Amino acid sequence: MDCRSRLRSRSAVTLPTGRNEAAAAAAQATSAAQAVTIESFLAELAAFQTAASESLGGVSDGSGLEQARIEFLGARSGRLKAIQKLLSGLASADRPAGGRHFNEAKGAVTALFAALQDKLAVVGAGSAAVADAIDVTLPGELVRLGHVHPITQTIRRVQEIMARLGFESVDGPEVEDQWHNFEALAIPAEHPARDPLDNFYLAVARGTDPLLLRSQTSTVQIRVMENRRPPLRIVSLGRVYRPDTADATHYPMFHQVEGLLIEPGTTMAHLKSVLRQLASSFLGGDVHVRFRPSFFPFTEPSVEFDMEWGGRWIEMGGAGMVDPAVLAAVGYDPDEVSGFAFGLGVERIAARRYGVADIRDFYRNDVRFLRQF
Ligand code: PHE
Repeated sequence: MDCRSRLRSRSAVTLPTGRNEAAAAAAQATSAAQAVTIESFLAELAAFQTAASESLGGVSDGSGLEQARIEFLGARSGRLKAIQKLLSGLASADRPAGGRHFNEAKGAVTALFAALQDKLAVVGAGSAAVADAIDVTLPGELVRLGHVHPITQTIRRVQEIMARLGFESVDGPEVEDQWHNFEALAIPAEHPARDPLDNFYLAVARGTDPLLLRSQTSTVQIRVMENRRPPLRIVSLGRVYRPDTADATHYPMFHQVEGLLIEPGTTMAHLKSVLRQLASSFLGGDVHVRFRPSFFPFTEPSVEFDMEWGGRWIEMGGAGMVDPAVLAAVGYDPDEVSGFAFGLGVERIAARRYGVADIRDFYRNDVRFLRQF
């Protein structure tokens, strides 16, 4: 036994001298970094006490008191906690005195807190009784008023502008038959636009033809012409449905503006000037409109039209002179009457006007977004 313990103590002594020296230097370095004199420690305590009592002087309610408690006596990062950590930096001879002063200061400040807490409790009990009474001099609570959705605002604005150009606003059904959505518009049965993958056909049929959610507002052109004689100037704004995947510029439901004018002597020049007036009034300033040749089964010639906005040409919709086949389908004499029609997306012009990058925002029903318009 004896022998072994001696062996152990000998081996401790015979550590390589290099390591011993390094350990000693490291120990010195740490204690130098933490060294605290008793004078500076007492000064810290005194400053702490002064700050605490000054701060409590300004406290008038429970939450203020709690804030001050956290700042000064908080167990994790309170100021007293920081001073406590300095204790270990005192020379060992100074530590007992330091500890005693620390405890005194802690006791004194804790007592100040307790006294103020009692005082606030008494005042609080008094004011609770007052709070129960109704103060008739306070202003009433404001009822927050809603407002019109930006898409509806856009629809109304377009209706207003078109009304000034003499176009009457009309409505049509969203559930349509194939005659109004396709056939009367010269879209025959084999046309790809009738593909079930591109339409919302319903499980309900009229005769043998299933009904569908209308895929365009051009249906309204037919409905109006079937029931009225020329001259005609109508505009129809409403929902249309297509099974598109929703992204920043597509949504399975959206809104279209449909315009139709049937008057003797109508030309593409009239069409262009109406579109230009609409664009300029809606977007503000003199907005240029450009035609690009295109194809629609129900117009001839057909164009797509762009508007110049912010130095760029933006695709807005389709238009053209009403095809004689369509006029014949509704019982008009194509040799006597002619006219133009156009269709454009409401979301598109609303997004342009309001600077909205993603049309899905219009339908999310997030009041934070909607409140901006
Ligand atoms: N209905 C067409 C569409 O939805 C647009 C259009 C309307 C084109 C009127 C010509 C005339 O794409």
